[in-house]
Amino acid sequence: MEKLALLNGEKTVKLDPGDLFRWPIVTPAHEKAVLEVLRSGRMSGIDVSKKFEQEYAKKLGRTYGLAYPNGTSAILGGFYGLGVGVGHEVIAPSLTFWASVLQVYSLGATPVFADVDRDTLCIDPKDVESLISERTRAIVVVHYTGMPADMDTLQKIAQKHNVPIFEDCSHAHGTLYKGREVGTFGQAAAFSVMSGKSFAIGEGGILFTDDRKVYERALLFGHYIRGDEILSPELQRFAGLPAGGYKHRMHQLSSAFGLVQLKLYDAQMHTIQKAMNYFCDALQDQKGIRPIRPKDPNSSKGGWYFPLFEYLKQELEGLSLTRFAEAIQAEGSVCYPGSNTPMHLHPLLSEMDVYGHGKPTRFANLPDNIDRSVYLRKLPISESIYQSLFQVPWFKQFDRARIDEHIAAYRKVLSRYRDLLAADTGDDSKIGGFSTFFR
Ligand SMILES: Cc1ncc(COP(=O)(O)O)c(C=O)c1O
Repeated sequence: MEKLALLNGEKTVKLDPGDLFRWPIVTPAHEKAVLEVLRSGRMSGIDVSKKFEQEYAKKLGRTYGLAYPNGTSAILGGFYGLGVGVGHEVIAPSLTFWASVLQVYSLGATPVFADVDRDTLCIDPKDVESLISERTRAIVVVHYTGMPADMDTLQKIAQKHNVPIFEDCSHAHGTLYKGREVGTFGQAAAFSVMSGKSFAIGEGGILFTDDRKVYERALLFGHYIRGDEILSPELQRFAGLPAGGYKHRMHQLSSAFGLVQLKLYDAQMHTIQKAMNYFCDALQDQKGIRPIRPKDPNSSKGGWYFPLFEYLKQELEGLSLTRFAEAIQAEGSVCYPGSNTPMHLHPLLSEMDVYGHGKPTRFANLPDNIDRSVYLRKLPISESIYQSLFQVPWFKQFDRARIDEHIAAYRKVLSRYRDLLAADTGDDSKIGGFSTFFR
């Protein structure tokens, strides 16, 4: 095989990518829908957004949908909906984007981090159970990078302890767990639908629940002009002002785009699945890398947002992931080392006094004599795996010739990895980042 491109050989990926990575796919139907709102001046209205909520809820099979300006606020509204408040704990994975849980600080609650399962990269049910206390008010389940979490076990634990599950499906639009769509398991479920996600409509988020009380509390918290939908007498008398002091209205250019996208997404998702599975099948048996995808044939990875592989350095004689990635990139393919750095490693989760309580916010509303070591404990899998994950190309089209070039790039580097060992100065300890990898 010819020389690696990084060592002055010829590049493997030669074809122009065309639309291979273009996302979202904007059609004339999207343009028409957005222009209609724009021309009518209803950008700040709620009629289109309500329709979007209803159609999305119907598609997913949930009773209520509530649209938000972004996923972060949908999750905040959902926490309030579920009754999270002062002194409560919310169990969540640390290996995720911060907006899966950090909002609880502003409600006076604290996150408690569970480790993840190595195969799924999602919250480890065994660890969840060991962390439940009388203060636990919710368990956040993130279907990280579209991988479905172990919902059978998580649901059993949640039911046993009578704690609600809140699904963060921001990476997992259309993901199936044993044939059932994620976002239908939790008492509440939220999705980010910003442009980088697999269901992408601009900036936006959406919350779902079947529980009227959760819905009405979320309305009360930030949807101040929708007081007419609040029916329960104990909440209705507070309608008119947002209880949280937040404004949670979605921009209608997004919901108009979203209404069209609801009709197109499934077909687009299946194309992505075909392309990504083709890529993974071709690399499945290669030494040194492991595609991350569900083993169960009735489960799926939805739209494959942020597709990751695990790098198995020991199988490549210790070659750094940093150097491996450089070599893949030199071939013209995609290989970005790292995933989200686990949140608990950031001083915001151990030291920072955000609101002036005179102690770290993490402990602000917990009993003074609480054993802090439980909150500050190590999470071995999260802490070790994030620096051995890497992002592979996220194909939006099933274009065999173009995808084959990317497969060939990976195969070439893997077959000649020894050539990279000599000048390997890659420092994998620098891999990672606390914010999302939106490229
Ligand atoms: C897992 C997860 N949850 C929540 C969010 C927050 O969504 P948004 O960026 O729309 O606020 C993101 C966004 O990247 C995310 O990745």
